[in-house]
Amino acid sequence: MKVLVSDNFSAEGLRIFEDADGIDVQYRPGISPSDLLEAVAEVDALVVRSGTQVTEDVFQAAHRLKVIGRAGIGVENIDLAAANRKGVVVMTTPFGSTTTTAEHTIAMLLAMARQIPQASRSTKNGQWEKHRFLGVEVSGKTLGVIGAGKIGRLVIERALALKMQVVVYDPYLAAEMVHQIGAELVELEDLLNRADFITLHIPLNSETQNLLDADTLARTRPGCRIINCAIGGLIDEPRAAIHGVTLDPAVVVDLDRLSAAVAHLASTIDRKPTDAPVSPAAGGTVTRVPRRDGRAPGRTGRVAGRRATSP
Ligand SMILES: NC(=O)c1ccc[n+]([C@@H]2O[C@H](COP(=O)([O-])OP(=O)(O)OC[C@H]3O[C@@H](n4cnc5c(N)ncnc54)[C@H](O)[C@@H]3O)[C@@H](O)[C@H]2O)c1
Repeated sequence: MKVLVSDNFSAEGLRIFEDADGIDVQYRPGISPSDLLEAVAEVDALVVRSGTQVTEDVFQAAHRLKVIGRAGIGVENIDLAAANRKGVVVMTTPFGSTTTTAEHTIAMLLAMARQIPQASRSTKNGQWEKHRFLGVEVSGKTLGVIGAGKIGRLVIERALALKMQVVVYDPYLAAEMVHQIGAELVELEDLLNRADFITLHIPLNSETQNLLDADTLARTRPGCRIINCAIGGLIDEPRAAIHGVTLDPAVVVDLDRLSAAVAHLASTIDRKPTDAPVSPAAGGTVTRVPRRDGRAPGRTGRVAGRRATSP
C-alpha cells in the first residue's frame, strides 16, 4: 500500500507508517499542486494536515486513492463532495488538537488580560512602564463560550479553575448538560450582555458565518475581549470595519485564525495599538502531541466517503 504524506507530520506519526508491514510511505511536505497531481495518481492513501488543498482536480488524478487521513479536525481544505463522488473515505482525528487548542485559548485569554505582548515589547525596548500595562484579573469575570463541544468544554474546565463564571451559547445542548459541566446555558443576547471575555469554538457554516457581526459586536459589554482560536469567518470583520461601526475602543479582537482583513478591524475598533495577541493559526500546533497528532488509528472519525474502514 502506498501512502503519501503531503504536509508536515510528526516523526512519531511517520514512524508508525514506516514500521508497518506492507506500507510504502512517501513524505513530501510542501509538495506543489502540480507535483501533487502526479504523485497522488500512484497512491492508495493520502495524509494531510491543513496545508494541502485536496481539490476536485486532485480527486480526478487519484485513480487508486481509497482514503484520506486528515491529521486534525478541519476539512475545509478537502473537497468532500468530490471525495463522495470518488468513494474516497475522509477521516479526521477529532480529538487530535482539542487539548492544545483549549490551552492555546487560555494562553490568549491571559495574554490579552495582562497585555503581555505589549508589555514584553515595551520592556525589551528598554522601557519600564509598570503603570501603563495594567492588566485585569480574570478571576470573578464572566467568560462567554460560544460552542461547548469538545474544545469548548475543555476551555470551560480551565476557565472554572481560574475562578471565572462561564455562560454558554450553544443551541444544540441541553441546559442540564451545560449545568453539569459547571456553566450556564444562555441565549446569545444574554451572553453578549454578560460576558467580559468571549471565546468561539464553533464550526464555520452558513449558520455560524459572521455570527459576530457589526450589530452583535456593538452589543457586547464595554471592554469585552474576544478570542477566536476556531476558524476565520465567524466574525464579520471587514463589514464591521467598512461600515465604520462604532465599537467601544476597548473591544479587542484576537486575530488567531482570522483573515488578513481582521487586522483592519482590530485597528479600526481599537484606535490605540491593538491589545490583541496574535498567533499564526497555531492553536492546534505544538512541538509534540504524543499519541494524538499522527495517531489516527483507533481515534478517527469519518467525514466523507463510502464507509468507515476499520483502522
Ligand atoms: N485553532 C485550531 O487549531 C483548531 C483546532 C481544532 C479545531 N478547531 C476548530 O474549532 C471548532 C470547534 O471544534 P470542536 O472539536 O470543539 O467541535 P465540536 O463539533 O466538538 O463542537 C462544536 C460545538 O459547536 C456547537 N455549535 C454548532 N453550531 C452552533 C451555533 N450556531 N451556535 C453555537 N454553537 C454551535 C455544537 O453544538 C457543538 O457543541 C471547529 O470548527 C474546528 O474547526 C480549531
